[in-house]
Amino acid sequence: MFYFGVDYYPEHWPEERWNEDARLMAEAGFNVVRLAEFAWSRLEPDEGTFSFEWLDRAIEVLASHGMQVVLGTPTASAPPWLMTKHPDAFLTRASGDAVTYGNRRNYSPSNEAYRDHTRRIVEAMAQRYREHPAVIGWQIDNEFGDRDYDAPAFRRWLRRRFGSLDVINERWGTAFWSHTYTDWDQIPVPLSTGGVPNPGLALDFYRFCSDAYVDYQRLQIDILRERCPGHVITHNLMGFRYPLIDYFDLAADLDLVSWDNYPRGFWNIAADVDPSALALGHATMRGLKDRPFWVMEAQAGAGGWDIVSVAPKPGEIRLWAYQAIAHGADGIVFFRWRTARHGTEQYWHGLLEHDARPGRRYDEVKAMGQEIRSIGADVAGSKVHAEVAMVLSYDARFALEIQPNNPGFSYPDQFQALYRTLHRRGVAVDVVSPSADLSAYRAVIAPALYVLGEGTAAALEGFVERGGALLVTARAGVKDEGNVVVDRPLPGLLANVCGVVVEEYDSLPAGASNPIVLADASVRGAAGSVWCDILTPHGGDVIGRYGGDHYEGRAALTVNAFGAGHALYLGTVANGALLDAVIERLLTLGGVEHGPRRDDGVEIAMRRQGDTALVFVLNHAAEARMVHIDRDRYRVIVGDHDGTSELTVPPFGVIMLSGRADDARAETT
Ligand code: GLA
Repeated sequence: MFYFGVDYYPEHWPEERWNEDARLMAEAGFNVVRLAEFAWSRLEPDEGTFSFEWLDRAIEVLASHGMQVVLGTPTASAPPWLMTKHPDAFLTRASGDAVTYGNRRNYSPSNEAYRDHTRRIVEAMAQRYREHPAVIGWQIDNEFGDRDYDAPAFRRWLRRRFGSLDVINERWGTAFWSHTYTDWDQIPVPLSTGGVPNPGLALDFYRFCSDAYVDYQRLQIDILRERCPGHVITHNLMGFRYPLIDYFDLAADLDLVSWDNYPRGFWNIAADVDPSALALGHATMRGLKDRPFWVMEAQAGAGGWDIVSVAPKPGEIRLWAYQAIAHGADGIVFFRWRTARHGTEQYWHGLLEHDARPGRRYDEVKAMGQEIRSIGADVAGSKVHAEVAMVLSYDARFALEIQPNNPGFSYPDQFQALYRTLHRRGVAVDVVSPSADLSAYRAVIAPALYVLGEGTAAALEGFVERGGALLVTARAGVKDEGNVVVDRPLPGLLANVCGVVVEEYDSLPAGASNPIVLADASVRGAAGSVWCDILTPHGGDVIGRYGGDHYEGRAALTVNAFGAGHALYLGTVANGALLDAVIERLLTLGGVEHGPRRDDGVEIAMRRQGDTALVFVLNHAAEARMVHIDRDRYRVIVGDHDGTSELTVPPFGVIMLSGRADDARAETT
């Protein structure tokens, strides 16, 4: 089943209005509503006193119009009585200051009193709705995030994980600057007042912070699984860009991954949206469980707290929703129904205006609702088939946050630039964890695998040996899992498969770049910046050399034949021309079919259901674009068409085709 719906806050509006809201929702084609994820003070107005009647009535009204319900556990925002009674439950910031009341996400996930209150409200809700016919599942909390500088909890985590101070002193190398710990209580958290921390301590602290939310989520999951075995359990994550939680760990305990997709948030009032950044968010969320996901909050209007973002252009709300579907979403839930009149999010625009008018945004989504009625069943459960994987390592990301090496060295930006290069060629990509099984892929990219364990190194080597094409980029294999620099030439455990050694490296000043002279003379304008590994091949062939500085003529890019496959090593942060050349080479080595690079804003993506290919033609440009299709093979199932092979895709428009799976990609250009 395909889920299409909206996030609704009945507690914000008079009860007399609920029926009209539900009627309009049904008219828009909605079949699901998320409720209650911030309603703790309405559900438990005083400690231990529960009030579910209003929620019962809201669910009743919605169900009478055909809606199913996902209930949020309300723990992301605690009632004032709770935080007043337990001031020690506030989260501590890197400055060492505790958060004060006034916003949300202000609690410490390790705080025992908060956890007790959590158990109580979650148990009460589970008990109340376990057999409710309209309730299909749960969203736990809301957008877990932040780091809690809770020293006692960190020490408990360390004790459980490492058992003894000797192990920790050895692991972190505390002989340095005389940091040898002789009592658990001496171990600090890396507060900003402590200065640049020990990298081993800091990485373990970041892991602890991530685990604290994984553990807190599990506390809720255990209750819900036991009491509501038939319900689906999800959490709304924040896509690729969210850096503080290891999302593979967080997703492991969930039935379903969902996420919140805001292409035009108030934090970004830029005119343009980068469609590849959105696609990467979807690919990452799909990759967490290698399964279809939901968008639990799909943007429905301009975003705004204190600042108001650029409003979505006509067509964009529908376009972004279809893009999510193209990348594997089986549920789209718009945030939010009606624009709030009160509170921090007064300017976070929903489908209805403040005064409840259903305007152009509602109409756009309602038109999409009609389409979903006809295609939803074909889409649900269909799969994205990718031949290329990108390895996302939260260990590397955390460690590079602690020591970026160069102010311009950004793990997420490099990851995104590589992804964008593939996306422009219409190449489907799975984002996978460092422990993923790689056997289904033809090509794998491991960007800046700065922290590298033996298992991952062996898996990458085995992948190449069996015929795969691997791309490794600068600062790979520098650290072991304790964040200690390895005692071997770089790229450490990947030196063998890459057939190369990093002889020396250079960290470049801001704005500086070094031209790269490629063996393929047809490539012009290739350059590296930020970081330059000076390479000595040990079996590998040089395919790119530095054109300047004291290492002019030395290797910057190499390829190594290893077993039945090949490994490319890119020793610098590549500009667009260099990325194009490297990715072309990788795809050729891996035998990955792909289209030409497209710069016209048209994205073509595909899902498969058995023998059927569902092809999504998504025009992210503000002008109409032409796309050629083979009319003998495809029929248009969404979008206007006149029966010819040249389709005109309107500005921010979508055309969806259905055809035979084997030739879908090749026949659409
Ligand atoms: C997030 C949250 C929502 C809402 C929106 C808009 O995605 O999950 O509760 O705050 O942002 O700000």
